[in-house]
Amino acid sequence: MSQSPEARANLEETDLSDQTALVTGSTNGIGRAVALALGRLGADVLVHGRESSAGESLVEELTDLSVRATFVQADFADPDSVLSLAETAQDWCDGLDLLFNNAGALFQAGDRTPTGIERTFQVNHLAPYLLTAQLLDHLRDGARIVTTASDAHRGAVLNLERVRGSEPFSGMEAYSHSKLANILFASELARRLDATGRAVQSHSVHPGFVPGSQFGRFLPGPLSGLFRMLGVVPGTASVADGAAELLHAALSPDAAETSGRYFTGRAPVEPSSAARDADAAARLWTRSAEMLDMAEPLADARPRSSAQS
Ligand SMILES: NC(=O)c1ccc[n+]([C@@H]2O[C@H](COP(=O)([O-])OP(=O)(O)OC[C@H]3O[C@@H](n4cnc5c(N)ncnc54)[C@H](OP(=O)(O)O)[C@@H]3O)[C@@H](O)[C@H]2O)c1
Repeated sequence: MSQSPEARANLEETDLSDQTALVTGSTNGIGRAVALALGRLGADVLVHGRESSAGESLVEELTDLSVRATFVQADFADPDSVLSLAETAQDWCDGLDLLFNNAGALFQAGDRTPTGIERTFQVNHLAPYLLTAQLLDHLRDGARIVTTASDAHRGAVLNLERVRGSEPFSGMEAYSHSKLANILFASELARRLDATGRAVQSHSVHPGFVPGSQFGRFLPGPLSGLFRMLGVVPGTASVADGAAELLHAALSPDAAETSGRYFTGRAPVEPSSAARDADAAARLWTRSAEMLDMAEPLADARPRSSAQS
């Protein structure tokens, strides 16, 4: 079946001609398919990733569709790189209507940034937290923020001590933990946006198991090859299916009803109990700002009972 992501999500009639989108991690995989779909629907698109050649070639493809597009290279392991992406986005457009926090990776046990933070947590959670915080004032009324999480969060429990501690997570544990953080972040963001009267929504999404993306490159040894092989097995989700999940959360009227939901199968579902823990979400929010040495974003919406532990 060669249906586009927008057709799969029943959104092919959507007109985004006055809208601007930033899709992180759009040089490859699911994000690339989302960026192309948004361009076909008429949006201006900011493409992001690390591989310049892949980014520039996507911009060319979008330009051929008469889409206004640009590529920004930024490695999410480096907060300064995230800050410069935010600055470019602010300069490039008057305001953003769609922010897809989609870039994601998986690093092996014990891999840390120069500031001592477990690298998967830095790339998958702290980077989108910082980017979103920098862009809050640049989001137009009615904007939506979609964070790509994963059902791999199930089984993980928030443990911020271990992110910096001496007992490292395994690669997969670190990934699951970062995806739990994505869901907690998206729901706390929704709560704080609502509490401060902002007309901006935030959701998280599990795109499905999508072995046809380039994600297999992050897996160790034989698992990498196995992941890629599954991409050709009939019945597994395609990259277009994964992109349709993100488009649904970002554009469908159904997803506009309530902010802060976790979507999969183009429907809101309950994430794990650890991902519904409001205290953990508040704690993650506050501690993330501390780890990044920045003022807490949307601090006016801090819960009455402080969650610092
Ligand atoms: N595939 C699945 O089965 C699956 C399931 C659940 C959730 N997800 C999530 O879906 C999202 C997209 O993954 P995908 O499957 O489409 O994988 P992918 O094909 O590998 O794409 C990942 C994207 O993230 C970017 N990225 C990775 N590390 C980065 C870093 N350090 N700094 C900046 N950008 C970085 C990549 O940029 P470069 O290519 O330029 O390096 C690429 O554009 C991820 O958040 C992933 O966790 C995937």
